[in-house]
Amino acid sequence: MNPTPIVPTPDALPLPAPAALLHVLLLLTFTLHLVAMNALVGGAVLALWLRGRAGAVRGAADVAGRIGKALPVCVAATVTLGVAPLLFLQALHGRFFFAASVIMAWPWFSLIPLLIVAYYGAYLESFRGARLAGWRAPLLAATAAIFALIALIQVNNATLLLRPDRWPTLYFGNPRGANWNLGDPQVVPRWLHALSGAVAIGGLLLALWGKARRGSDPEGARLMRRVGLGALGWLTMANVAVGLWFLLALERDVLRRFMGGSGHATGLLALGVVSALALIALAARARRRDQASLTPVTVVAALTMIVMVLTRDFARQTQLAEHVGSLPVAVATQSVNIALFALLLVAAIAIVWWMVRRLARAGR
Ligand code: HEM
Repeated sequence: MNPTPIVPTPDALPLPAPAALLHVLLLLTFTLHLVAMNALVGGAVLALWLRGRAGAVRGAADVAGRIGKALPVCVAATVTLGVAPLLFLQALHGRFFFAASVIMAWPWFSLIPLLIVAYYGAYLESFRGARLAGWRAPLLAATAAIFALIALIQVNNATLLLRPDRWPTLYFGNPRGANWNLGDPQVVPRWLHALSGAVAIGGLLLALWGKARRGSDPEGARLMRRVGLGALGWLTMANVAVGLWFLLALERDVLRRFMGGSGHATGLLALGVVSALALIALAARARRRDQASLTPVTVVAALTMIVMVLTRDFARQTQLAEHVGSLPVAVATQSVNIALFALLLVAAIAIVWWMVRRLARAGR
């Protein structure tokens, strides 16, 4: 296999753990980042939608305000849970990731000021929302739009790192780093896929939150369930079409593997489609029946997300394989640091779980 000459050689510094372990940790922490991001982007979009329905639907403004209150916590969780996959991504694919980040330096740098502005937007909505009067919905819309723009920057980076063949054209076209990767046909469907998925999963989280509030606020809880499950069903339906667009935009060789060329890839794709269809049916059923349990729809949503993360990973591994080359990557395992990381990660997940349960109990 001939590595593309433009791709830097592997880092001389050894990896701190075997690549397989870092890979598992990348997928695990990225999935956690996605859940928080979905709560944030989905929450902002659903709050905006409910605000627009405030005149027509009783209780919509209250639910929108409640979601708005939680937005700063979602920003903090998204950012914090973004750091871990960033570290693993740099360790495993640094020579692709850094090259792509340098080529699109200005959009990439702009992520931080955009994040700060949107964070202020979330705080204003949360703490001063009621005093903003007519400015409240436009502020929420601007905040949601900035988060969607940040997602677009992430998608540009995640796709540009896969395409060393595009690097020279972009870099020499604009060596100052004012580049995007919008000429790549994957970018738009991948971004829309991520955004629709975020609103769908945000909807499920809203329905679960409603369940926790059934005792204290039955009417609000019913609205949260209805709106949340509606968003889950409709946006997943839209995502079946967007997902097909995304699939057809993949590079021919990768697409071939999903179309029977690899049992693993074809199996993942089939499982993803079946679980998405099951999710639509279960969301519609739970929405029709107020008393139906949310466990089946939650389990299938979790399965769908895991399959999507694995499918995305398979596509990336396949696309990078032709550029990786055969130079060995040095490993010097830092067992104590890895054990400490694992311990802290498990403790953090346990504490967050405990806090969520306490909150849910307080709501009841
Ligand atoms: C708060 C707003 C954010 C949003 C809406 C967001 C959204 C996204 C989306 C949609 C992706 C998937 C990109 C793709 O695969 O095409 C992604 C990936 C990623 N995000 Fe975020 N993100 C946010 C903030 C952050 C921050 C602040 C960090 C770092 C501290 C971060 C770290 C990452 C990493 C490392 C990946 C890629 C993981 C991988 O490729 O394996 N994100 N993000």
